Amino acid sequence: MITVQELLADPPKLHAFTPVAGTHEEKMFAPGELINRWKLSDEELLFIDAHVNAQSKTIETGAGCSTVLFAMKGARHTCIVPDRPLTERIVAFCKEHGVPVDKLTFIIEPSEKALPRLEERDFDLALIDGRHGFPQPFMDWYYVAEMLKIGGYVIIDDLHVWVCETLANLLTEEKDWDLVHESLGGCALKKLGNGTQNNEFPDQPYVRRRSRQYSFQAKLRYLGNLLKRRNYPLFASTCKLAVQSALMGKFGERPRGRR
Ligand SMILES: C[S@@+](CC[C@H](N)C(=O)[O-])C[C@H]1O[C@@H](n2cnc3c(N)ncnc32)[C@H](O)[C@@H]1O
Repeated sequence: MITVQELLADPPKLHAFTPVAGTHEEKMFAPGELINRWKLSDEELLFIDAHVNAQSKTIETGAGCSTVLFAMKGARHTCIVPDRPLTERIVAFCKEHGVPVDKLTFIIEPSEKALPRLEERDFDLALIDGRHGFPQPFMDWYYVAEMLKIGGYVIIDDLHVWVCETLANLLTEEKDWDLVHESLGGCALKKLGNGTQNNEFPDQPYVRRRSRQYSFQAKLRYLGNLLKRRNYPLFASTCKLAVQSALMGKFGERPRGRR
């Protein structure tokens, strides 16, 4: 069987390139060309290598080089990805390189469809690396958060994408998640409790601090956005309300009349 070092040194080209307009990759590859650029970053692959073994139960959204590594570690692994040809290339690569695939389960579906139906629990590690558009990483996290055992890990990849970075920032402020690893590409958090995904927003520090109910900065941002959207009537009435409530000593609160 290949080693982790060999996998990292020469990652398999598993992903079929689909051009995204306006990206620098658009001109680098032909549509359908197999590439390895979209693989999980080495730092996070090494995190999996260090934290997963043959007793682990793991899950990932998306698939690729990371799936090969989960198979190499002998984990009981569930991989959710809608791209069947990709899963066939992964299995073919594993077989060619002596990596057993008997503990791999593929669910060939978008994760937003598959995760709500999945009844399995007590996963040791979850990798979120499927679709990266809003709100997918949040949705993936919401479902896997409940499925992870206390003490389990979630890896969030592609922190250069605002959605992934925001999810990571939000979780790093939560008492139920402990940031245990961070690189330029991704991060890993240890689950300490089941609060976050079930809490209301005042109990989520990151959300609370950015909500105009609690934050002066958020109030200014809101007014700025009203101007940007040219909603001058709402801007004017909001400013008037702000002055009224400031006079009542409760800046930003809606005056509720006399009792
Ligand atoms: C960045 S790549 C994953 C890279 C992979 N972890 C690796 O190490 O090579 C993103 C993956 O998400 C998959 N994907 C796209 N939409 C998805 C969805 N709705 N649910 C799950 N996976 C999705 C794509 O097929 C692709 O395999």
